[in-house]
Amino acid sequence: MTSTRYAAPAAPDRAAAEVTSFEPLRLILDGARWAPSGDNVQPWRFRILDAERVEVDLHGDDSFYETLWNAKGIYLAAGGLLETLRIVASQQDRRMQWKLKADARAKALQLRFAADASVTVDPLHPFVSTRSVRRHAYRLKPLTTQQRARLQQSVGNAFELVWKESAGARWHAARLNMKAADIRLRLRETFDISQEILDWERDFSPERIPVKAIAVDPMTRQLMKFLLQKWSRIDFMNRYAGGTVLPAIEMDLVPGMACAAHFLICFPAHVPDPGSPQALIHAGQAMQRLWLQATAEGLALQPSMAPMLMAGYHLQPAALPRLAQASRQMVDWIRDYAQVEPDRIAFMGRIGTPRTPHVTARSVRKPLNDLLVDNRAP
Ligand SMILES: Cc1cc2nc3c(=O)[nH]c(=O)nc-3n(C[C@H](O)[C@H](O)[C@H](O)COP(=O)(O)O)c2cc1C
Repeated sequence: MTSTRYAAPAAPDRAAAEVTSFEPLRLILDGARWAPSGDNVQPWRFRILDAERVEVDLHGDDSFYETLWNAKGIYLAAGGLLETLRIVASQQDRRMQWKLKADARAKALQLRFAADASVTVDPLHPFVSTRSVRRHAYRLKPLTTQQRARLQQSVGNAFELVWKESAGARWHAARLNMKAADIRLRLRETFDISQEILDWERDFSPERIPVKAIAVDPMTRQLMKFLLQKWSRIDFMNRYAGGTVLPAIEMDLVPGMACAAHFLICFPAHVPDPGSPQALIHAGQAMQRLWLQATAEGLALQPSMAPMLMAGYHLQPAALPRLAQASRQMVDWIRDYAQVEPDRIAFMGRIGTPRTPHVTARSVRKPLNDLLVDNRAP
C-alpha cells in the first residue's frame, strides 16, 4: 500500500462530514413538509445554516400567496409548520427553539435544533403524514365527551375551542361558507388563483389541490373545468345563470351540514394583540395539534377559512379594491355566526367521522430539494 491511499484531500473530507452532520436536519425538514398550507402552496423555503440551525423564509417565491392569504394565513400556516417541525424533531432527539427574525418585514423564522437525549417522541408523530384535509360529507355522529375533552386539551389552555353542533348552528356555518365562496368566485382578482390551485390531472398533487379532493361530483367537476378556462364564462354564469350555486351547494352546504360539528379556535379576551405574528403563530401551532389529535381519533377535519380571508381584505384595499365592500359585510356575517369579535377568531373548521377511512385523492408535497435555498448542505 502506498501512503497516498490514506491521504484523502481535505475538501471532500469536510464535505463528507457535513453530509453526516446535516443529515438529521434534512430528515426533520423532510418530515415537516407534511405541514398543511393554504391551497397547498407550501410557501416556505429552508436555508440550512449549520448542523443545528435553519432559517425559514415564510412566503417563498409565490407572489400571489401573500395577497390571497394575507399575513394572517401566512403566520397561521407558519405556526402549523413549526409545530410539525417540533414533533418531527422529537423523533430525532432534538429540541426545537424558534424566534421570528428581528426584521419584521422579513417574515422569516430562525430555528435551532439542539440534540437533547431527554426529549421524548411526541405521541402525535405517527399522524404527521396521515393527516389530510377531508372536504367531503362526514357522518352525523356527534363527538363523544371524551373526544371533545382531548381535542380541547390538544389546543391547550391558551385558546378557547368553541363548538357549533346543533343543526341550526351547522346551517349558519354552511351559509357563511357559501357566501364566502360566492364572493371568491365572483371576483376577477381571485379567478386566476382558483385556476392555478386546482390539479385536474393528478389525484396526488405535489404542489396543488387535486380536483378529486374537492367535494363535487364528476358532472359538476366537468362544468367547473369548462368554466374555469375563461373568466368570461364564470362572469356570464355569475350574471345570468345562477352561477356558483351548484358548486356552492356541493362544496359548502352539504358538507357543512354533514358533520359532527363546526368549531372555532378563539383567542381569549385577555390576549392584547391577536393579530400579531407571535399570536397567530401560536394559534397555528394549536391548529396543527388539533388537526393531528383529530386524525389520531379517526376524525376528519376541514378548515373553513374562506370567510376569515374575505373578512381580512378590507384591511388591504389597495391590493384588492373590489373586495373591500364585500369584505366589510363578511365581518358582520362572521360576528353574527360566531357571536365573537372576528379578530378574536384564529381558526374555523368542521369535524366529524369520515364516511370512508381511506383517502383516494390528496395533496402531497414538493420534494425537499425544491424547498431548500442556498443552504450549505450538499
Ligand atoms: C391556514 C390554512 C387555511 C386553510 N383553509 C382551508 C379552507 O378554507 N378550506 C379548505 O378546504 N382547506 C383549507 N386548508 C387546507 C389546505 O388546502 C390543505 O391543508 C392543503 O391543500 C394540503 O393538503 P393536506 O392537508 O391534505 O395535506 C387550509 C390550510 C391552512 C394551513
